Amino acid sequence: MTDAPTPPADAGGEQQPPAPRLTLRQGETGHAVTDTVWSQVGGTETFERIARAFYRGIREDEVLAPMYPQDDWEGATWRIQAFLEQYWGGPSAYQEERGHPRLRMRHAPFPVTPDAKERWLKHMHVALDEVELPPMHDAAFRDYIERAALAMVNRFE
Ligand code: HEM
Repeated sequence: MTDAPTPPADAGGEQQPPAPRLTLRQGETGHAVTDTVWSQVGGTETFERIARAFYRGIREDEVLAPMYPQDDWEGATWRIQAFLEQYWGGPSAYQEERGHPRLRMRHAPFPVTPDAKERWLKHMHVALDEVELPPMHDAAFRDYIERAALAMVNRFE
């Protein structure tokens, strides 16, 4: 076993401020790319548009609609919006309100069959078509929901 390295002694014995962040890239607007995906795609407004478009599809879906709380569509819309905002680096309101996501556990009561998964993804794809994210973000978003939806499948009949 080796001894832990001793931290270098500094002159005043105080913590040094962090080094300024070096930025090598610029985004389309010319600003440095240091912000989150959440803000790059337009922040809350964009996520609200995604959630609303998604739920328009869900409410029309004969298999999925009955699984959702019929008297709380607004609440359900808020939950998916807040979750996605948080996931992509936005505010952590979801966590504050709902705690740790534990999504697989939260979906356990619902029959998420392969058919349900395909339907869910179809509505999310329609929502993403509607907001037209920049191509890289769009691809990242679709890739994420594809994997997340697969992980949510909990029945195979
Ligand atoms: C694969 C098919 C899926 C089905 C059939 C499904 C169905 C449902 C249903 C019925 C609810 C309850 C609605 C509510 O009260 O909020 C729900 C909640 C939720 N779902 Fe899904 N879901 C699916 C996939 C996903 C995926 C892929 C994600 C994340 C990327 C997700 C995120 C959420 C979130 C954040 C909630 C709210 C959880 C809470 O705080 O209670 N779902 N889902």
